[in-house]
Amino acid sequence: MVKATDPNQVIVTSGLTKVFPNGLRAVDALDLSVSSGEIFGLLGPNGAGKTTTVGMLTSRVIPTSGGASIAGVDVVAHSTLAKQLIGVVPQTNTLDRSLTVFENLYYHGRYYGMRSSDARAAAEETLRRFKLIDRADADVNQLSGGMAQRLMIARSILHKPQILFLDEPTAGLDPQSRLALWEILSTLHESGQTIFMTTHYMEEADQLCDRVAIMDHGKILALDTAARLKRSVEADTEIRVSVEEDLEALAVHLKTFDGVSSSQVLDGAVLIALRGRTALVPRIVDFVETGGFTLNDLSVSEPTLETVFIKLTGKELRD
Ligand SMILES: Nc1ncnc2c1ncn2[C@@H]1O[C@H](COP(=O)(O)OP(=O)(O)OP(=O)(O)O)[C@@H](O)[C@H]1O
Ligand SMILES: [Mg+2]
Repeated sequence: MVKATDPNQVIVTSGLTKVFPNGLRAVDALDLSVSSGEIFGLLGPNGAGKTTTVGMLTSRVIPTSGGASIAGVDVVAHSTLAKQLIGVVPQTNTLDRSLTVFENLYYHGRYYGMRSSDARAAAEETLRRFKLIDRADADVNQLSGGMAQRLMIARSILHKPQILFLDEPTAGLDPQSRLALWEILSTLHESGQTIFMTTHYMEEADQLCDRVAIMDHGKILALDTAARLKRSVEADTEIRVSVEEDLEALAVHLKTFDGVSSSQVLDGAVLIALRGRTALVPRIVDFVETGGFTLNDLSVSEPTLETVFIKLTGKELRD
């Protein structure tokens, strides 16, 4: 049994591991704890092990070794009880297509043991809160992607779970629907809801989450607030330079510039992290041009969580 050392820790894992029958170690000895009221983000590329982690925390996937507890309840030994304490928004749409929007909420409430009148009232109140009341009688397959996702979140909190799990809640949504969901999640957070979410959008992890764990190949590579993770790259500026000629050669040269903390070839450009803002830009342009390179493009930005990911793995977060 995995025990929290502090009662405020509502998710605790210890050596949590999943090895699939084909030998793939999807989650490898995960140790983490999430405090009550926190929005915790698991950020990682496709195949990092995010869904498998959520699967184990929500008692849908049985760990190979190690364990986890939710509000002090072991997710394997007491999975039925653990499931009552949580709300889950899975990565894929699991709305019941044979039911209306309202019925999807109502039957969810009944499933969680609410009396008919309570389930009805909760469903109506939640539809109002999520601006879906006009659609109460619609078929769920008439909903847009953003609305369907809103309904999935509405359903997941209907029974007032202690902890809400969201697996890539905004994947595939247009920017407007994504912002609308961010607002919903922020409001839930303000009301004290503990949220564990996965994402491969660094902006989402950065904007929403109190703490972010960066995951790849089943392991957590770094875990902290987004601000501290970004500070850990020891740079305040990131410059991407692309030239016609040998990128490796350019990367090696640029590494010797004062203030440059790293310089590497990534995705058809040289990516330089440096201290000292943009004072180096004119010198870089000058060097590229006098060094016999043909400049294709140059961009300057602040370090992001993606910079952190690149520093840790040498590759980009996106495919
Ligand atoms: N049932 C399974 N059997 C074998 N391998 C699996 C199974 N489920 C997942 N995997 C593999 O485990 C690894 C982690 O998968 P997982 O779905 O947890 O990643 P993810 O981070 O959620 O990725 P995505 O961003 O694509 O959703 C992947 O390599 C995946 O192919
Ligand atoms: Mg996934």
